[in-house]
Amino acid sequence: MMPGAFPARLEDRHMVQIAAIEAVLFHRPLDQTTLQQLVAGAAFRGFVMLAQDEATVLAHALFLNAGEDADLVSVATAPSVQRQGIAAQLLHHAFGALASESVQRIVLEVAVDNLAAIHLYRAQGFSEVGRRARYYSRPGGSVDALIMARELAGAAA
Ligand SMILES: CC(C)(COP(=O)(O)OP(=O)(O)OC[C@H]1O[C@@H](n2cnc3c(N)ncnc32)[C@H](O)[C@@H]1OP(=O)(O)O)[C@@H](O)C(=O)NCCC(=O)NCCS
Repeated sequence: MMPGAFPARLEDRHMVQIAAIEAVLFHRPLDQTTLQQLVAGAAFRGFVMLAQDEATVLAHALFLNAGEDADLVSVATAPSVQRQGIAAQLLHHAFGALASESVQRIVLEVAVDNLAAIHLYRAQGFSEVGRRARYYSRPGGSVDALIMARELAGAAA
């Protein structure tokens, strides 16, 4: 883990940096307008990992809380700080917070060719519960999505 990095609730002041991280990492990134709409919804729950300066966003994890289930809408770590355990720590923190408001299960979709994310989710206790054909578009065609889920029982810290 990066020294001094810590998880926090997403705030409006983080939005520009989140949109920038999305833009470098995703084929179809959440832009600032879409992010604003997402964040304004009652079901939205957002978490960030901040650097020691308390201003630099290193990673974000965005959820929609649908009651017993919460959907992981997006998780991403800035390229320069990947593979240091930041996403793992951020998700662990977020799952604890969601469990404490009675969320019982996290559900997500991930492209079958996104091996880094699939490894991350497996390491976090997710397993495959379904598949959606040709769910993500790619420059050369489309790829399937895996639907993965994880029970949160006991995740509240
Ligand atoms: C997936 C992603 C969020 C992981 O973030 P990260 O902060 O680098 O992840 P961590 O360092 O916490 O990794 C935790 C575990 O995930 C797995 N993992 C992460 N990156 C990996 C990679 N490039 N290759 C293989 N496994 C990987 C490993 O099991 C890792 O544990 P280990 O380092 O002890 O082996 C990051 O690669 C990313 O932002 N990717 C682009 C955005 C994206 O695809 N998000 C998911 C959309 S569904």
